Amino acid sequence: MKTSGGSDAMKRRAGESAAERVTDGDVVGLGTGSTAAHAIRRLGDRVDAGLDARGVPTSFASRELATDRGIPLIDLDEAIGPDGPGIDLAIDGADQVATGGEGSEISETGGALIKGGGAAHAREKLVDAAADRFLVVADPSKESPRLDRSVPVEVLPAGRTAVAAAVREAGGEPTLRRAERKDGPVVTDNGNLVLDCAFGELADPAALSATLSATPGVVEHGLFVGLADEIHVGTDSGVRVDE
Ligand code: 5RP
Repeated sequence: MKTSGGSDAMKRRAGESAAERVTDGDVVGLGTGSTAAHAIRRLGDRVDAGLDARGVPTSFASRELATDRGIPLIDLDEAIGPDGPGIDLAIDGADQVATGGEGSEISETGGALIKGGGAAHAREKLVDAAADRFLVVADPSKESPRLDRSVPVEVLPAGRTAVAAAVREAGGEPTLRRAERKDGPVVTDNGNLVLDCAFGELADPAALSATLSATPGVVEHGLFVGLADEIHVGTDSGVRVDE
C-alpha cells in the first residue's frame, strides 16, 4: 500500500487511536492508504480478541487487508439499504487537512480535506459521507492552515478532455495521473482516470467542490468539505484528537 509523508509511527498512533473508538456491534467504513491501514490492522486484532464489528471497504486494497486480518465485511449497498444496519463510523486518511483559523478545532474552515492520493476517493466519499461519524487519521505533515495541494478528480475516460477544459476555466491546471512503474495512466478501481488539478491555495473549498461536482464527466473529486467529525493526529509522543 502506498505510503506518503509523515513518519509511520505517527500514522500508526493515529490509526490505532481511531480503531479504539469502535464498539461492539459497529459497522465500520474502512479507508484507504497507509494510515487507514494501521486502523484496519488494529481493528483486526480487536476482532481477533472478540470484538463484534464488520467493515465496509473503500477500495480493493482495504478489502484485501481487512480480509487478511479476519474482519467480516459487508457491502455498502447492504449496509445502508432499507433493512441495513447503517455505518456507525468510518476511519480514513487524508492527503491534507485544513486546520482553519482558530486553533485546531473542526470549524467552518477547519476540517476540510483533500483526499485521493491513492485514487480511491470516489468510494471513500460514498462510505465516509454515509457514516454516522467520520474519523480522519493523519500525521502532522498533513495539516495546513489552508488547502493548497492538487485536487484529485476522477473522470470518465471519455470525459478527460472536457473535464480538463472545465478545470482550466475554474482556474486550475490539470495533469493526468500516470502509473509510477507502468507506461500508462493510473486507472481507478472503477475503471476511470484521475486528473490532479493544481489550483494553488484554495480560498473557498466549498465553492470549488460545488463547481467540480457540477462538471459533466467528473465521477468524484477529492475535496471533502464538512464531512469530518473527529481528526486523530498522531504525534511524536501520542495522539491529538480534534472535534
Ligand atoms: C486514498 C486517500 C488516502 O487516505 C490518502 O492518500 C492518505 O494516504 P496515507 O495515509 O498513505 O498518507 O485519500 O485515496
